[in-house]
Amino acid sequence: MDILNKTLLNLRTIKLRRFFGSLLYPLQRDWLERQFLKPQTLEAVEETGEVYKAEATKSGGQFNFQHFELEICFLSADLVRVEWKPGILPIAYGISRNAWPEVETTFQETEKCWTISSSQLKVIVNVDGSLKFQNSLRLTLREELPPQRQTKLSHLGKEEAWIHQAKLRPEEHIYGLGERAAPLNLRTCGNEEETRTYRMWNYDAGGIYGTGTDPLYLCIPVYLGLHEEGSYLIFYENSFPANFSFSNLARAEFEGGMLRYYFSAGSLPQLLERYTELTGRPPLPPRWTFGYHQSRWGYEREAALREVVKGFETYNIPVSALHLDIDVLDNFRAFTIDPDRFPHLPELAAELAAKGIRLITIINPGVRASRKNKLFEEGRAQDVFCKLPNGKPAIASVWAGLSAFPDFTNPQARHWWSRQYEYLLDLGITGFWHDMNEPGVFVLWGDPSLPPHATWHSMEGRGGDHREAHNFYGLLQAEAGYQALCEYQPQRRPFIVSRSGWAGLQRYAWTWTGDIITSWEGLRQTIPTVLNLGLSGIAYSGSDIGGFKGHPSAELYLRWFQVSCFMPFCRTHSANNTKPRTPWSFGEPTLGIVRQFLQLRYRLMPYFYTLAWESTQTGHPLVRPLFWADQDNPHLWDIDDAFLLGDALLVAAIAEEGATSRTIILPKGNWYNFWNDELLEGEKQVKLKAPLEQIPILVKAGSILPMEENNQLILHLYPSAFLTSQGQVYSDEGDGYGESRCDRFYLTHNQDFLELIWKQQGDYVFPYTSVQLYLHGFEPQQVWVDGDEVVNQGRCLDLEIFEQVRWQGMFTHSEYFN
Ligand code: GLC
Repeated sequence: MDILNKTLLNLRTIKLRRFFGSLLYPLQRDWLERQFLKPQTLEAVEETGEVYKAEATKSGGQFNFQHFELEICFLSADLVRVEWKPGILPIAYGISRNAWPEVETTFQETEKCWTISSSQLKVIVNVDGSLKFQNSLRLTLREELPPQRQTKLSHLGKEEAWIHQAKLRPEEHIYGLGERAAPLNLRTCGNEEETRTYRMWNYDAGGIYGTGTDPLYLCIPVYLGLHEEGSYLIFYENSFPANFSFSNLARAEFEGGMLRYYFSAGSLPQLLERYTELTGRPPLPPRWTFGYHQSRWGYEREAALREVVKGFETYNIPVSALHLDIDVLDNFRAFTIDPDRFPHLPELAAELAAKGIRLITIINPGVRASRKNKLFEEGRAQDVFCKLPNGKPAIASVWAGLSAFPDFTNPQARHWWSRQYEYLLDLGITGFWHDMNEPGVFVLWGDPSLPPHATWHSMEGRGGDHREAHNFYGLLQAEAGYQALCEYQPQRRPFIVSRSGWAGLQRYAWTWTGDIITSWEGLRQTIPTVLNLGLSGIAYSGSDIGGFKGHPSAELYLRWFQVSCFMPFCRTHSANNTKPRTPWSFGEPTLGIVRQFLQLRYRLMPYFYTLAWESTQTGHPLVRPLFWADQDNPHLWDIDDAFLLGDALLVAAIAEEGATSRTIILPKGNWYNFWNDELLEGEKQVKLKAPLEQIPILVKAGSILPMEENNQLILHLYPSAFLTSQGQVYSDEGDGYGESRCDRFYLTHNQDFLELIWKQQGDYVFPYTSVQLYLHGFEPQQVWVDGDEVVNQGRCLDLEIFEQVRWQGMFTHSEYFN
């Protein structure tokens, strides 16, 4: 978007006071940055130089090159930490597990190299400082060139940048990097000049973005290299601004810090397990979070909220949460509620809670810098704001006007901030929506961030500038919020959705894909964005249904809604000047179809909740690319308009205007069409119908899909003649930390018989009144429950607790199973 358009957009969306702020701030930013950057000369580009010392250490090796030091340390047999020094030691904000048991390694020396091996990985260090990573089959997964370091001089001293490059294998595909408005595969093929650059610098897209915008709000320096001969993951523990690109070479250029990174090899699920062991797994969210969330910037009064709720009742649409945007704030100030427009919020919250609807409120980190603002005065007295070189708080314009920004790298600031949530919790607010926390500020030109060199942070007392602290900001705000919720509501599990973050955000918060453009392209983009977030450890995300700014057609809204019903975070949200956007805003047939899809989502609640529980154990995202189910099939590696929800469901988006069918290549195995039980063979391209009231949904043969309705657990059995089908259902109170249970089901096929076994585990009382078994693709003729023959009721069987059910009958699709 050109500058003129951007200026007009800013003028329209922000009031005059903020307009002047967004004009003055960049002048100050640029002036400050000039002070800090001038004069700047390139002093040297250093390479490793000769090696003069190499020795084995407890779990690895230590090497001294002429210019750099290298330390290799195995944290487990398939996870190794590599450290090139010098450089500032990172503060371990991204890391969850610091202590690892000693790993047995061997250290061998030859004329040209040293080899450090565990039972699963081999790292070869060459005399020139290049590294090779091999798996136990001796296949080379990654070859790194010797790193380089650029030294620049400014009057601040030396600035050091690392350049790290690795050869990519032909056909290798790259995924991850957090939130990206890019194709699923981040590697650019062909022309070097067209190679996309991905920047690591959390960035406010300024109200609208589409495919190609980079960076976005939540950058994570982690990526996966997928290849037939073996896949790997790289995570750089370096928060400094960086540029990544992937052509023949994978290149990462960091503007500072130490070059510390982690390498792991294995299958995709294993890589996510290791990465989230290192950076943390998502805690179990409350069960209601998987319901539908309604939001809008523009619910300006309590009456507007009441009216929305009435709509849900009138039109019989389920809803679990309402989000309150900046309209609820008193002059846009943090931790306030406008007393005139929301005078009875506690009563409203209680009323809604009785209907099962939670209130979530927005929190922006900017604190209005005014003597009249108690929060600002308190923060100043406690010295908890980000500072300029003169010791004064760094001030920039955001919603509340000129504001100061808490320095979340200061433990005292985190503590102070976390104490503010109590007020809102007492009013009946259940969860929090952290916005503008890159932190983003208003600018008419240039970078909407605090001055990178001129803003100073505590960094746990050791000090550091904004270049190092910026990407941590949202993560540390989420930590403070999470602590607050744990402390003030110990009986509830926290719910925070954060726009920004870094590696490890999954420990505290969900995210959404920000201000995505309202267009078919926007809808298409949200799928790879959510998938790459999941492959970067962020298991919970979703997009503004219908796009943020603009008016979707009924068809676009509906298609967006249908896909979002299978995303972890299902929320309609839009900008303040958009037309009303609720499930009933578009009339029929949209309303009826949206209702059916939402009802389906609510029926799938045990499936979502069980996936969430599994993710607490594995770190696996709920929504996964198709190749998760079939990693060796390269035809799946670029599919970014369809996804898997867990192992059982495949969802194909309709992201083209007027489309009523689409083709899709299926992963291996057999797949049942969810809508009509037709059985389809995997590894083939199929064409599927998608009239307005459907999008293609397939269920993997060999799945047990749990659903619920009217207090009954409904197990949809999708047998495969070749596999034992397995399914599990996790249940608990839905919130808090009480008892839980896991019901496991195993379905096997033996000649003409199907047998289902139920194994129960855990002390929580089975929460359903009965169980319905629903057979797909199998016609029963005789049925036995726990050894006794019962009347054959056909494909549906209603039961209470049982241990074993046997059916004698026939597969409907025997042609596939012979
Ligand atoms: C930002 C957010 C958007 C929100 C708006 C007003 O643009 O991304 O979701 O509605 O600010 O608070």
